[in-house]
Amino acid sequence: MKKIEAIIRPENLDAVRAGLEKKGIVGMTVTDVQGRGRQKGVCLQWRAGEYCVEFLPKLKLDIIVDDDKVEPAIEAISEVAKTGRNGDGKIFIYPVEEVIRLSTGERGKQAI
Ligand SMILES: Nc1ncnc2c1ncn2[C@@H]1O[C@H](COP(=O)(O)OP(=O)(O)O)[C@@H](O)[C@H]1O
Ligand SMILES: [Mg+2]
Repeated sequence: MKKIEAIIRPENLDAVRAGLEKKGIVGMTVTDVQGRGRQKGVCLQWRAGEYCVEFLPKLKLDIIVDDDKVEPAIEAISEVAKTGRNGDGKIFIYPVEEVIRLSTGERGKQAI
């Protein structure tokens, strides 16, 4: 099992959710986060001068999947989230030791 941690643009959430669902990936946790990538924040020019924002609002999706769903999940997320522009986000993959479904006591991939 793996944890897919995807940082995406907030406006892409519903399309990403729908794309994942089409591949049979339903469970996820969504968190509001603030982030910065290689370009750091953004600076805007105003009449009054320059105003810089160091962190931009993003969403973090935590999705636990069985190993064979990792590539389908990456595809579904990339299809929507990859515009080719700066700030599209990133996906990080981590190994997951154990999952326990509290309502049934199931463990491992049965519990996802
Ligand atoms: N090295 C990193 N570690 C953790 N989060 C990151 C990292 N790089 C990017 N992010 C997250 O992804 C968001 C979008 O980054 P993005 O601008 O697409 O990356 P980059 O500029 O590095 O290509 C950031 O706002 C931040 O939340
Ligand atoms: Mg960037």
